[in-house]
Amino acid sequence: MTKISLEELVSFLKEQGFVFQGSEIYGGLANAWDYGPLGTLLKRNVKDLWWNKFVQNNKLNVGLDSAILMNKDVWQASGHLSNFADPLIDCKHCRSRYRADKLIEEATNGSVNADGFTDEELVNYIKEHNICCPKCGQNDFTNIRRFNLMFKTFQGVVEDSLSEIYLRPETAQGIFINFKNVLRTSRKKLPFGIGQIGKSFRNEITPGNFIFRTREFEQMELEFFTKPGTEMEWFNYWRQFCMDFLVSIGVDKDALRFRDHEKEELSFYSNATTDIEFLFPWGFGELWGIASRTDYDLKQHMKYSKVNLEYLDPETNQKYIPYVVEPSVGVERMMLAILFSAYNKEELEKDSRVVLKLHPALAPYKAVILPLIKKNHAAKAQEIYDALSQKYSINYDDAGNIGKRYRRNDAIGTPYAITIDDDTLNNGTVTLRDRDTMTQKVIKVEDIEKYIDEIIKL
Ligand code: GAP
Repeated sequence: MTKISLEELVSFLKEQGFVFQGSEIYGGLANAWDYGPLGTLLKRNVKDLWWNKFVQNNKLNVGLDSAILMNKDVWQASGHLSNFADPLIDCKHCRSRYRADKLIEEATNGSVNADGFTDEELVNYIKEHNICCPKCGQNDFTNIRRFNLMFKTFQGVVEDSLSEIYLRPETAQGIFINFKNVLRTSRKKLPFGIGQIGKSFRNEITPGNFIFRTREFEQMELEFFTKPGTEMEWFNYWRQFCMDFLVSIGVDKDALRFRDHEKEELSFYSNATTDIEFLFPWGFGELWGIASRTDYDLKQHMKYSKVNLEYLDPETNQKYIPYVVEPSVGVERMMLAILFSAYNKEELEKDSRVVLKLHPALAPYKAVILPLIKKNHAAKAQEIYDALSQKYSINYDDAGNIGKRYRRNDAIGTPYAITIDDDTLNNGTVTLRDRDTMTQKVIKVEDIEKYIDEIIKL
């Protein structure tokens, strides 16, 4: 169980400056969110950690930053134009609109996963199990229509079908269409991966649960190209790698589980898929999808572009289309799981405190500099802040008594509070307070970096 409800978390994050309602001063835009000073830092840290682990520290992998806008044929080839659609159903009585699979999932408290159901199966299930409209309580729905989730726009000044383009609904296709470019320029040999972080857009029918499902979000995707026949080995490797990564950055291990897709649920091009799910306050939800996508995407792009995307195996001299294993995760979803895991309210002897026990590598600020008495210690505090902020994000807080400043920084997850006092001026020492244990020790100014470096390691 999470230690805070969704509503409480949303209000806490707004209060602290992590996440604001998008377009707030104009009455907001539904399901759009802006990231404040702390949310921006947390988001950057999430992306940096992913990048380090999946790209920078792995000699098999390289990075890419492909365009959001792509040739329309990309989406024809990938199948998104014809298949990337959700089953839309309307209540005839009150006109509320639902995603039919989600309606079933919610009515069965998540015990039925209707993701792979055909339209006929969805309709039958809703009828047979007398699933009613959550708003008006009637069981009187329209037939299912397929609603394509891609945002359409126009390129250039003429708004006709020739200038129609789409905002990408996943970053993955940008990787597939650059397979040949990356292969040639990086001189990689199989197996190798291409990682990418970037915005994706989906006109979701039922966005919601705060930043869990939105229409604009960021993805961190790795397309790992393998020799056919070895893909299961790599699928199992990345499946575990992703789970270990989540645990290493502080996502509550007891709230995580693997959910392997049953055969009937698998996409037609996939020979294995697992979701890593997190227990959110509304139940388990997909956090990270790991899919073995066979050679489907490259084959499709080869067919539609007429460019040969085969790989020439230098060992066997054989040509073949690589198989792909894809771990794909949303930045915001990962942030949400991190925040639910880190949030704690603790009763202390005299009062209570909220503390975000974020892994120090994720913490927006690595330390806060606290001049004990502004007029005596501000100059030295500024000097220490200037030196440390060359290397880390550092907070500076000189307002209110020390106790209040500790609490403020506990609540935003700052791992160390560093107090500058007369001893700093006279002996070159500071008091270092640990966020989680609240213990304090006196250390030399020149040792501060050593302490920070030690805790931000993964
Ligand atoms: N390329 C594969 C792909 O995009 P997906 O399961 O549709 O697969 C991967 O998405 C991940 O992206 C999800 O596990 C989730 O973390 C994130 N994601 C997908 N849709 C999202 C949305 N509407 N809002 C926020 N995150 C989303």
